[in-house]
Amino acid sequence: DRQFLADYRPYPFILEQTRLEFTLAPDATRVRADLTFRPRNGSEDLLLDGGKNLHLISLTIDGREPAADQVTRDDERLVIAAAALPDGQFTLATEVEINPSANTAFEGLYISNGMFCTQCEAEGFRHITFYPDRPDVMAPFQVTIHSDQPVLLSNGNPVRQEEGLAEWHDPWPKPAYLFALVAGDLVAIEDRFTTASGRDVALNVWVRPGDEDRAGFAMESLIKSMKWDEDVYRREYDLDVFNIVAVDDFNMGAMENKGLNIFNSKLVLASPETATDADYERIESVIAHEYFHNWTGNRITCRDWFQLCLKEGLTVFRDQQFTSDMRSASVKRIGDVQALRARQFREDQGPLAHPVRPEEYEEINNFYTATVYEKGAEVIGMLKRLVGDDGYARALDLYFKRHDGEAATIEDWLKVFEDATGRDLTQFKRWYTDAGTPRLTMRETWENGRLTLHFTQHTPPTPGQNDKPPRVIPIAVGLIGPNGDEIEPTRMLEMSEAKQEFSFDGLGARPVVSALRGFSAPVILERNIDDATRAFLLAHDTDPFARWEAGRELALHALTALSQGQEGGADYIGAIGQLATDEDADPAFRALCLNLPGEEEIATRLYAAGAIPDPDAIHDARNRLARRMAETHANLLSAIYDQMVVPGPYSPDADSAARRALRISALGLLTRIDGGERAEVLFGITSNMTERMAALICLVRRGRGGVALSALHDQFKDNRLVMDKWFTVQPMAAPPADAIAIARQLSERRDFDWKNPNRFRALLGGLAANHAGFHAADGKGYDFLAEWLMKMDPINPQIAARMSTAFETWPRYDENRRKRALAALERMAAMKGISRNLREMVTRMIAAG
Ligand code: ARG
Ligand code: ZN
Repeated sequence: DRQFLADYRPYPFILEQTRLEFTLAPDATRVRADLTFRPRNGSEDLLLDGGKNLHLISLTIDGREPAADQVTRDDERLVIAAAALPDGQFTLATEVEINPSANTAFEGLYISNGMFCTQCEAEGFRHITFYPDRPDVMAPFQVTIHSDQPVLLSNGNPVRQEEGLAEWHDPWPKPAYLFALVAGDLVAIEDRFTTASGRDVALNVWVRPGDEDRAGFAMESLIKSMKWDEDVYRREYDLDVFNIVAVDDFNMGAMENKGLNIFNSKLVLASPETATDADYERIESVIAHEYFHNWTGNRITCRDWFQLCLKEGLTVFRDQQFTSDMRSASVKRIGDVQALRARQFREDQGPLAHPVRPEEYEEINNFYTATVYEKGAEVIGMLKRLVGDDGYARALDLYFKRHDGEAATIEDWLKVFEDATGRDLTQFKRWYTDAGTPRLTMRETWENGRLTLHFTQHTPPTPGQNDKPPRVIPIAVGLIGPNGDEIEPTRMLEMSEAKQEFSFDGLGARPVVSALRGFSAPVILERNIDDATRAFLLAHDTDPFARWEAGRELALHALTALSQGQEGGADYIGAIGQLATDEDADPAFRALCLNLPGEEEIATRLYAAGAIPDPDAIHDARNRLARRMAETHANLLSAIYDQMVVPGPYSPDADSAARRALRISALGLLTRIDGGERAEVLFGITSNMTERMAALICLVRRGRGGVALSALHDQFKDNRLVMDKWFTVQPMAAPPADAIAIARQLSERRDFDWKNPNRFRALLGGLAANHAGFHAADGKGYDFLAEWLMKMDPINPQIAARMSTAFETWPRYDENRRKRALAALERMAAMKGISRNLREMVTRMIAAG
């Protein structure tokens, strides 16, 4: 049944206290729950969520069994008739039996590698016990665990630990989705943190014995995060312990359970030999993200799941700020914009488009999306730009003060900004309610020393939303004089009409406009400028994002022309040569400028411009441009490759990573003309995974990865995380014509442990990332993925539904591909017993046909 935001109703009972007692056994775990309720007003039936998997053993109210006809149950809930409930406070006690070892969906309580663990967000707790499993029902938890596992963890502070038993108490009222339990054979790396007000906190990162030497970086990242949240947001930690656990089977990245964060092991474990620079940066940011949730998510949670962006958009925004402070802010911004365009613009452009705050859903797990997370963060960035840093700081202080301990809404969030700054945010709210990426056009006129910028905005229709009124768009603009000097520093123009103009007066000569600096709003900017002007901006813009963007535009212009059989690329190749040698520029920035846009990005661009993208033509165009770049700049690239060697032992710090990034970009281009010579040498001599992976990708791309792949396999066959990379790189970097056959071969291997989400994503995600390979004209890519999604769905519907988004771009392509993709989607839709998760996804995608 479909859920609607408009139907929200408070829960009719207040839950005063939750006590849980677990007796763990792999096939038959007992869960006793004692829930103390008080009616909010009057008498109503008591509704408790609870899945089919709960085997009810006993149920009493204040110690007495209700009459049989007063308790009813269906597949999703248990209802106790109002008549069976006392007038005031009462305690409901239930005992259920569940089977963690049969839980292949990894939602609720399950077993991973012999370790008991949980995942409850969004609605997993209902598979553990009967409960009002909704985020606005909050209670303090007391948890007792009986088990012979050596380490027994839950939320809050430990109150008793003895052989076979542990008791935990979490004093901070929380919704069930933040509950967690872990029991297993684990070892901790330990540290301590003293908060600004003097609380001494014990920190532990729990891993399996043997993994201790790969957990240090996660601990360092945690300590930096705790300090940063105090310094920048004045938020302190509020318990005596903070535990992080690494788990091998995990549906997503990580989870912010109160005081007990659970992580996908790939976001905790890192060593120079096994993790890349990108892995290190991601670990640092996800550790921060989950820690920051302690205030933005846990202390202040969401009233209902429609408000998911309240905690996720804000927490992503905070983790982005953190990474900007730890590393290069401009490089971080460019990376975030690239990711936003690759995932969120793509989503907004297709059948799965939805608002940052959706108003309806069938399965909430399908809404943990780039729109809710990444666009949700962009919206907060815009708010901050509009009210200024001071206004933002005052609004956030008010938010924490006013809503601490509450389950809040987007309306509450906007109200603190209105109250703290006096600004009316009625129109701004459309960023939360309206889906789609606005198209912003900019035209210039010049007369008597006056430059006028003429803007229009328009947002194309998205499913269920045809007309979109204009939004508030902050447009950061600067002006560059003809000699390359900035003559007007960044000014924030505030657009709110469908058409609007802004003027700059008293200018001597006509300047060049640097627009949408820092990507000040998540829009598509269309402006008519020639390649020479773009090259000028690439050379002179003072705003790093706008500078990079000018190069990106040049490259995309060349690539779209080449893919349509026209000439192009000369300006780009010339400008890139200059930038690549600019020793004043950050090597990471230079690397970003050397990397050509991916094939998917080129396809998105062509489709937005009204063309039908041809995957093979795009692949060829990109190869041709890369080859020409390499031929033109062979000496320069080779010099960069030699200069950017990082001396000494590997360190994941930003400066070393930046040099490696530039070196790797040069290598990627050089491989186009040296036959793979350098890549082969590098693979053989380097010991860090960053360079090894880069070299391996070069070799696989040239069809000469065989030796390196077996070497990597032999060295790391027992390391799951490295083997995941091994499974990804082959279908991803293979020549498109080979990709599906390679993926199929890999899928037949014994070590393709497909029930493990990381391994499944590695292989199928690797194939989907090979644009021309996945979108093969004969439809074999679609068939192969659909086959695997249908196999996965009965085992783990969340993973099947998530991976099905590989199909979301199907309406873009030619008649033949559309027909084949649609057939694959329809085959899935017709599958007997399809999950609610996958059904909702394929139905929405088919509806675009
Ligand atoms: N709250 C978690 C995070 O942002 C993610 C949970 C995702 N849950 C899900 N069912 N998809 O870190
Ligand atoms: Zn989050």
